[in-house]
Amino acid sequence: MPSAPSVSVSITGSGLFTPPASITNAELAASLTVSVEKWNADHAVDIAAGTVGARELPDETFIEKASGIASRYVMEKSGVLDPDRMRPILPLRSEDELGVQAEMSMPAILDALVQAGRRSSDVDAVIVGCSNLQRAYPAVAIEVQNALGAGGWAFDMNVACSSATFSIQNAVDALRNGTASCVVVVNPEITSGHNNFELRDHHFIFGDACTALVLERTDDALNDGSGNNGRWEILGTKLATQFSNNIRNDFGFLNESEDGERDPHDVVFRQNGQSVFKEVCPLVVKHITAHLTEVGVDAADVRRFWLHQANLKMNQLIAKGVLGRIPDGDEAPVILDEYANTSSAGSVIAFHKHRSDLRSGDRGVICSFGAGYSVGSIVVQRASG
Ligand code: COA
Repeated sequence: MPSAPSVSVSITGSGLFTPPASITNAELAASLTVSVEKWNADHAVDIAAGTVGARELPDETFIEKASGIASRYVMEKSGVLDPDRMRPILPLRSEDELGVQAEMSMPAILDALVQAGRRSSDVDAVIVGCSNLQRAYPAVAIEVQNALGAGGWAFDMNVACSSATFSIQNAVDALRNGTASCVVVVNPEITSGHNNFELRDHHFIFGDACTALVLERTDDALNDGSGNNGRWEILGTKLATQFSNNIRNDFGFLNESEDGERDPHDVVFRQNGQSVFKEVCPLVVKHITAHLTEVGVDAADVRRFWLHQANLKMNQLIAKGVLGRIPDGDEAPVILDEYANTSSAGSVIAFHKHRSDLRSGDRGVICSFGAGYSVGSIVVQRASG
């Protein structure tokens, strides 16, 4: 049982950047159909000889039925839908320009800072947590820190889809041990850069977005909780990892040095979706249940579950496992229908969009899960205004 936290920490602001371009399942399936037909024609001899397998055609109705996803936002649409390209077109920027991940971070952070009643210069720590970083170094977080005119320190971290909750834990630790006083956690997810748009099993899964949170010691907060979106005291954080190869992406700086050829589909996202579904649901139910027990909160007293947004049925099963009954949409809000899986940003988008109706004293759980496997949960309570 963890000891009671000595210093209270609150989420004092949240923000969201949604890219302007959206892609429907029908658009995605249409472009993949052209790509698959062309690929199969180009490889007809090998397919007939049985040395390679034909690629399967996608079906737009399968996507929504299997996952709950109807559309996704992307940073750049034309390249993703171009059957000869199947990845976004992101122009190379000079070192003097703001990088694309830092750029998408800014509106989300500024949105969160307004709610917190803080200026950029008040920030003294920036943690960028996301599934894929555009370069090895300098850290995107340091670029963001510079663009904000913030002080203190900054670093990048990656725990795949759990990067937001793992970043929150780092922010809480820094605030409790006094190494920072106003921490920004930001999740600039350009999933379209590492999604596999060439295979029907994966092409529909992800979408792009960026979320940001401001965290402060409750005693220092300028946000008194009376605003529409409240202030959220953190009652507890809990992280867990358990190794699995079922979600994997082997892109990395050793690719060029590896002795042997890699399948290009190994250096983008891949997963065994059914195994993930079967193994992760019970893991998450057990995790949230244990966490609620540790912080002394009954599951029946949790007003809302802001869950990672990968699959609608998965979230229904997890909420049912924790509550012992089928949740309604109000208890476990869904954003994946519109956003798809935005990796680490998903649970925070759900929190950002579905929190203003909760009342003072209401409790909720932000929970992310994904590759690693990794699970992170944050139990919060709306502060009195
Ligand atoms: N269009 C048409 N058919 C498709 C398709 C598409 N876009 N995508 C997959 N299929 C096919 C498969 O190829 C398979 O065909 P087969 O039976 O001929 O081999 C069939 O549909 C069933 O595929 P399967 O992968 O078993 O479907 P599923 O019901 O498990 O749904 C997911 C797939 C990905 C939606 C689901 O497994 C899932 O969401 N899992 C959890 C993923 C997760 O949380 N990941 C975390 C990532 S951060």
